[in-house]
Amino acid sequence: MALNQQTVMVTGAAGMLAGDLIPRLLRGGWRVQLFDLKQSEVAGCLVAALDITSFKDVSNAVSDVSPEWLINCAAYTQVDAAESNEQAAFAVNGSGAGNLARALSDVGGKMLHISTDYVFGGPDGCSARRTPYLPEDKPDPCGVYGKSKHLGEVEVVEALPESHLVLRTSWLHGIHGHNFVNTMLKLAKERTELSVVDDQVGSPTWAGWLAEVMVELIEKDARGTFHATSRGGISWLDFAREIFRVAGAEVELKGQTTEELGREAPRPRYSTLDVGKLESLLGRQCITWQEGVARHLEALRA
Ligand SMILES: NC(=O)c1ccc[n+]([C@@H]2O[C@H](COP(=O)([O-])OP(=O)(O)OC[C@H]3O[C@@H](n4cnc5c(N)ncnc54)[C@H](OP(=O)(O)O)[C@@H]3O)[C@@H](O)[C@H]2O)c1
Repeated sequence: MALNQQTVMVTGAAGMLAGDLIPRLLRGGWRVQLFDLKQSEVAGCLVAALDITSFKDVSNAVSDVSPEWLINCAAYTQVDAAESNEQAAFAVNGSGAGNLARALSDVGGKMLHISTDYVFGGPDGCSARRTPYLPEDKPDPCGVYGKSKHLGEVEVVEALPESHLVLRTSWLHGIHGHNFVNTMLKLAKERTELSVVDDQVGSPTWAGWLAEVMVELIEKDARGTFHATSRGGISWLDFAREIFRVAGAEVELKGQTTEELGREAPRPRYSTLDVGKLESLLGRQCITWQEGVARHLEALRA
């Protein structure tokens, strides 16, 4: 175990991904200073209140902590609500991320920023692309959420040209928040039939695995932009099938189109990310999405 006792500042500490990340940072010997909108406690550590949309508050917190790394898990993640709350989504995902990076550049720390597959797919999600996106591909963001997250990437890279690590992930599922796996398991107790979207293809990613990779990357002092998802591109219908198979749930599944579901925000029809650059750095393959489902269900059972 590394006992480096350096400080990592985590924003969005009460969220789903941070719930998996924080215990892994502690096990790795990192000191953690945690922040989120509201004061709370995670993994036995105090989470202090900090709204990342206020540069003044961010600047004070960052200079007090003076972290080796700042990991930004804070985000406006309600994809549908973002369509009618554009200003709020941009304030958190765009300039909020930029505030953290600018404050950090004043004290000399490094920033791991989490971004999304929604920086691809086109404004209405209907890009014709059907091959995995590379980290170097020109972003073509989908919907307000995608555009706001793209702005965040741009602001982080501009403020910290040599000290940023941007990880784009997708279809996150973990035990600490609302997500597709938990929703399907809940629905399996209530329904015998279910319609699930079959015309969006992407890569489900187990938050526990991503959290392990995040700790490994800061320990390696990695910089740049990487795609960090499980291997494989599937539809939500395939994902649901595997969840029910592993859970032993008997639910009859039917395919449904994005139009039939009728959500407010557009979704990328195809957003599989190429993880080759990350795999070269790690020296091994990313987990498969099926392994991610199995590990999620194991964690729930434990
Ligand atoms: N979930 C996915 O499927 C997915 C996929 C790809 C990428 N990502 C990215 O992965 C990262 C982590 O996602 P997640 O699912 O763990 O998100 P999450 O559970 O929604 O956590 C985000 C946290 O940020 C907090 N927050 C919101 N506005 C804030 C502000 N102004 N100042 C400080 N904190 C604020 C939220 O508080 P409230 O809950 O009180 O708002 C929440 O605790 C995000 O960058 C997200 O964009 C997620």
